[in-house]
Amino acid sequence: MEWTPEPHELADLELLLSGAFGPLTGFLGHDDLHAVHERGTLADGTPWPAPVTLHLPVDVSPGVEVTLLDPERLPLAVLTVTAQEADGLTSGPVKALGTPEHGPFARLRRTPADVKEELGGRPALAVTMRGPLDDLSEIVATAKELDAVIMLLPLSYGEPGPAVVRAALRAKEQLPDGAIVVSVPLAPRAEPEIDLELREHVATAYGAAEHLAGPEPVSIPGPPHRRGIVVFFTGLSGSGKSTIARGLRDALLELGTRTVTYLDGDVVRQLLSKGLTFSKSDRDLNIRRIGFVAAEAARHGGLAICAPIAPYAATRAEVREMVESVGADFLLVHVATPLEECERRDRKGLYAKARAGLIPEFTGISDPYEEPDDADLMIDTTHISIDAAVSQVLGTLRSGGWIR
Ligand code: ADX
Repeated sequence: MEWTPEPHELADLELLLSGAFGPLTGFLGHDDLHAVHERGTLADGTPWPAPVTLHLPVDVSPGVEVTLLDPERLPLAVLTVTAQEADGLTSGPVKALGTPEHGPFARLRRTPADVKEELGGRPALAVTMRGPLDDLSEIVATAKELDAVIMLLPLSYGEPGPAVVRAALRAKEQLPDGAIVVSVPLAPRAEPEIDLELREHVATAYGAAEHLAGPEPVSIPGPPHRRGIVVFFTGLSGSGKSTIARGLRDALLELGTRTVTYLDGDVVRQLLSKGLTFSKSDRDLNIRRIGFVAAEAARHGGLAICAPIAPYAATRAEVREMVESVGADFLLVHVATPLEECERRDRKGLYAKARAGLIPEFTGISDPYEEPDDADLMIDTTHISIDAAVSQVLGTLRSGGWIR
């Protein structure tokens, strides 16, 4: 069978395959994880600081071979399953499938064997970095004292990865000749001590005699008027979502200070989600598609307006997560016009049909709508005009600094 692991699992896989996680050769199972937690060693006593796990939510038996794919579905490795826990945690050794490396700075993602060969037995001082180095003098002095080659290891995992590698290449310019830069996609661990120990292990695998950890990056988010944002309207059919969303779009276009992407529920269903039904799983897929496009627009600083019903809280939360993971903001606007009012208006005549049993699974009538408890703004259009509703959203965007 085939499986595409999560990004942090793929990063761990790359380090398992390159030897940077030596002596590990695969994903850890129950006994090893228990020992890592209890004593900071594997079950056989070998020092090892951090869990390296794979979650596979499909039942597999020991001996089964799973081809691990990258998100573009290129085969990367074969996992031979040794065991699987009830929660899907799957252990076993991995073997590379020899796929060419790609991604930014792929040429700097060297294996420990390759780097050690270049070192040729000379001692090295490794500096792992997750952001720019502010002070090179300590590094230079330590390397001099040890008579060591300086090896910068930018930890190039995730969105900030390329910037960290660029910081390392800039630092190399300022260092004595012969410094080496190796990009290592090590995903950060939540506990700082474990993260640090793992960095030490990786540095040692690359042949370092000593390890220094660069300063933690201070992430300074851009000003809100430059940051991407998704304004996500949710509410019943006929609640006024689309009308407010359109009014918002027009007002923003008149202002002209933000690039606007507009994803209305009905419009999305004519192309992006054409053919999807109103079953729970199709609605969820519809919302995920909207979230994906909105997050891509917001990733580059755009403002995306979405206006589907989005009846399920968990799916709305997923979209929030998708958007925040690209460094953009998420504003949930609950258009809370009550069902009675939506039905009284019945602008598309759908409620009458739903009551007559002609439309199955109709939100509010024969299908659920989970009211948000995390809305940033709530608007009931029963007694206010569209202009007033749009002004409320604009006011929120203004007071949050997203528009000026
Ligand atoms: S969602 O649930 O997947 O978010 P979406 O916003 O795309 O729904 O589509 C809702 C629109 O589809 C409604 O405004 C209405 O015009 C139409 N529609 C058709 N069938 C249904 C249904 N069973 N439930 C809700 N809306 C429906």
